[in-house]
Amino acid sequence: MGTDIGQLGRIFTSSSAYADPVAWHAAAERIRREQPVLRVTSERYPDFWAITTHADVLEVERHPDVFTNGPLPVITTKDRVAGAAEAPIKTLIQMDGAEHKTHRGIVNEWFKPGSVRRLQERVTELARQHVDRMATLGGECDFVNDVALHFPLHVILSILGLPESDYPRMLQLTQELFGPTDTDLGRGGDSALEVILDFVRYFTELTADRRATPTDDLASVIANARIDGAPIADLDTFGHYVIIATAGHDTTSSSIAAGLLALLQHPDQLALLQAEPDRIDQAADEIVRYTSPVKHFMRTCREPFELHGVTIQPGDLLYLSYASANRDETVFADPHRLDVTRQNAGNHLGFGFGQHFCLGVHLARMEIRTMFRELLPRLRHVELAGEPTWIHANFVQGPKSIPIRYDLV
Ligand code: HEM
Repeated sequence: MGTDIGQLGRIFTSSSAYADPVAWHAAAERIRREQPVLRVTSERYPDFWAITTHADVLEVERHPDVFTNGPLPVITTKDRVAGAAEAPIKTLIQMDGAEHKTHRGIVNEWFKPGSVRRLQERVTELARQHVDRMATLGGECDFVNDVALHFPLHVILSILGLPESDYPRMLQLTQELFGPTDTDLGRGGDSALEVILDFVRYFTELTADRRATPTDDLASVIANARIDGAPIADLDTFGHYVIIATAGHDTTSSSIAAGLLALLQHPDQLALLQAEPDRIDQAADEIVRYTSPVKHFMRTCREPFELHGVTIQPGDLLYLSYASANRDETVFADPHRLDVTRQNAGNHLGFGFGQHFCLGVHLARMEIRTMFRELLPRLRHVELAGEPTWIHANFVQGPKSIPIRYDLV
């Protein structure tokens, strides 16, 4: 007798479940087959519907007026639900409707393909620096901690315009915010608010500085934004800094780290990209599909809605499982295989869809492509030098450590 399907629903909340990706995907596959809109009940978390197929996640994303991001965009334990709804700082992911449109409009221009292309030279320079550093490490390193964690952070902080001396502090804060259920990385307990307050202290100073002396960096765009003709409120500037500094970091580093691990586990695909580096651009989307570093976002239902034969009621919570949708066998043939030539890889939902579609998508793709274009052709040999480990988290998640042995040109 197999595990009861209701019990399987814990894979969506349990941080340790995500740390065993093979078992996680086997469970999700069964849920997609047997009960794709699954009611999940537990002691720690409010009840929710897990939405697991590609078509259903898309359907929910297509109805932002019925399914709102606020007040709970991310799974939250029962004891923290009230606090989360009253959080003093609101970011894009907590906003809906006109408020979301106004705030997204402030930063949208900066992240459009044309603007992002201007950054290519700097991104290449940073990627090369990180690969050069790998070359000095004596042929062995932990790819997560020595490379993947630092490169995207340096890109984000460099476009925000922060000095390099502040990078280590930002690295620590973003890890604390996104890994709070992981014993090694998080502060434990009710730490999210504390970490956000640390950001506030840092960015208050930054805003004052960019208002006094605007430059052409992203921090200046945020600090000097106007809403309905009036200067943006300080609290709103923090919301923008927090979401960009955090959403732009662990997501991309997890894609790069989990991407290299996936290539090591699919040596034919690694060999193909090394032999034909022109395929790397297309491979970036397959890497995001396969690794899905953002595991979920939540929605709250506002009016009765039929989904896959289930009536979702106002007030019900929905858990959009991007990780499951991206392995949906009805959309992606042989979904558990990394296939860098997959023609429809771009249909993945790893960046979401619709009004909240990832703001940083063009930058993220550029970073993944640039890192692998710099790294793969220089790797004469690469292999695992130990067991990789995974972060215990249920929101943004990926490898915690990937020991590798390599020979770099
Ligand atoms: C591979 C890396 C990344 C992945 C997998 C990823 C994934 C996502 C996902 C799934 C969403 C929610 C979409 C939805 O609700 O439909 C999102 C939103 C967002 N992402 Fe990304 N992201 C990545 C990189 C970045 C980068 C580099 C930045 C910025 C520098 C960024 C900034 C944002 C922001 C600001 C939002 C909120 C948008 C809104 O609510 O309107 N992301 N991302």
